[in-house]
Amino acid sequence: MPTLTIDGRQVSSPDGSTVIQAAETLGIFVPRYCYHPGLSIAGNCRICLVDVEKNPKLQIACNTPVAEGMVVHTKNAKAEDGRRAVLEFLLANHPLDCPVCDQSGECELQNFYMNFGLYDPRFREQKVKKKKAVLIGPHVLLDQERCILCSRCVRFTDEISKTGEFGIFNRGDRAELGLYPGQRLDNPYSGNVIDVCPVGALTEQDFRFKARVWYLSSAPSVCNGCAQGCNIDVHYVLDRPHLNDGARVLRLKPRYNADVNQWWMCDEGRFGFGWMDHGRLTKVRHQGVDSTWEPAVAAITTALAKFHQNGTGSRLGVIASSQLTNEELFLIRDLFQGALRARVTASVPTPPGYSDDFLIKADKNPNTLGARLLGLDGPSAQEAAVIVDAALQGQIDALWVFGHDLAKLFGDEKIEELSRKLGLFVFSGTNENATASRSHWVLPTAAYVEKDGTFVNCHGRVQRIGRAFPPLSDSREDWSILLEIARQLNHPLPWKNPKEIFLGLAQAVAPFAGLSYEQIGLHGVDLPTAAAGTAAS
Ligand code: SF4
Ligand code: SF4
Ligand code: FES
Repeated sequence: MPTLTIDGRQVSSPDGSTVIQAAETLGIFVPRYCYHPGLSIAGNCRICLVDVEKNPKLQIACNTPVAEGMVVHTKNAKAEDGRRAVLEFLLANHPLDCPVCDQSGECELQNFYMNFGLYDPRFREQKVKKKKAVLIGPHVLLDQERCILCSRCVRFTDEISKTGEFGIFNRGDRAELGLYPGQRLDNPYSGNVIDVCPVGALTEQDFRFKARVWYLSSAPSVCNGCAQGCNIDVHYVLDRPHLNDGARVLRLKPRYNADVNQWWMCDEGRFGFGWMDHGRLTKVRHQGVDSTWEPAVAAITTALAKFHQNGTGSRLGVIASSQLTNEELFLIRDLFQGALRARVTASVPTPPGYSDDFLIKADKNPNTLGARLLGLDGPSAQEAAVIVDAALQGQIDALWVFGHDLAKLFGDEKIEELSRKLGLFVFSGTNENATASRSHWVLPTAAYVEKDGTFVNCHGRVQRIGRAFPPLSDSREDWSILLEIARQLNHPLPWKNPKEIFLGLAQAVAPFAGLSYEQIGLHGVDLPTAAAGTAAS
């Protein structure tokens, strides 16, 4: 492992690593455009120039391997002059339309000019004109004038999505980024080119002009779009309700996790967040009429207690969901399966969706494995269809459905019949659907970005989701509804929040043993492999 000196500090870096990587381990940031740790090295932008002693010319840090005894200066006058010259070239033909550029505020051209450039512009000639704001696929716009030809997007489509739509065409100042003839940028991972583009050349159609980025807040979470559980940052705005019809979530971005999604996420996960602000259930409803939480919880607990006494609990049914957190499923298990002896399942037949051998999984639930570890899915769990049939045959008096649209799964007629036959039919969920409109009580619940908790992804990794902001309108977190129902049923549980519930879960369910929110941290923890594959305790 060679030892070198960077800006007067010694560092040992693995054989084959580069100066930019060695500098990073010391916390020294070397500017970069074409270098991206998830892509091959191109070495074409030259912004990462550093001064290596005994070398007459400046070297590019991204493609210079470390060597024993090397002495590198990233901040001396020679290196800084070199970078200023590179920026002057890059900006010679750049339109400098930052005020109307959606990248403004998170643009590396702006940032590096401020941090490392700051020269007096000398370019007075007419700039080369290229195409602007061209929609090149369902999600991405291209502005060729802003492109600095770093080729990150080309390498992403060649190496990661392996779809190869992009190329760099022509020479000199006429060189431009574009699509090969007849191509569109329409692959399942197309949105990632927006992230890798260091400037405003590739921007997002959906997000464009919705908010200046400095108005955005960010919270870490995990995508609920499939069983992979890609790590994400939720970008939201709360204090501008006059914009975007009051929508709070404006975009999702992948959050680096070496073990789950690296730097990437799929388009379905990235762009499929509209439901968090649109079509939401916002009010408690009873038989189609707006109500409030107090009478709802009182009526539901009274009915549950009555039906429980009637038939030793087996006349109660619960169809839970793998969209719920482990903490919520644990409460459902404890309260309904344990105390009320209800029939409980999270095994609901949803048709498998699109999948590939990269990130996208056919199971579109984020927590199927968590439900399985709690025994609510998998071989030991009843199918939802069995519970629905039992209810139709009059063997169940009370049914609580968490989030699912049973009408879509089993047909509207059956659900209408359920509504007539059941003594109590509760639907709790985030969004309107046909089952909500057939149920006796509708309880509006928090979206996963509005609550804390954990999911277990398909590889057995337990990961935390985080509450970015409070639940919309009258909606409440499922865990808080369940704790209140338990309290009113004289089955008080000792926990006050998801963090405490998780500690209870970790004591009761073997694969989670010894874990806490602190240990899971921002990037998750792999559960014991053998345990992760089977239903437990
Ligand atoms: S569009 Fe962006 S990522 Fe692609 S080459 Fe141009 S600057 Fe680089
Ligand atoms: S692969 Fe799955 S978890 Fe990852 S972003 Fe897409 S839908 Fe979300
Ligand atoms: S980042 Fe090193 S040459 Fe582009």
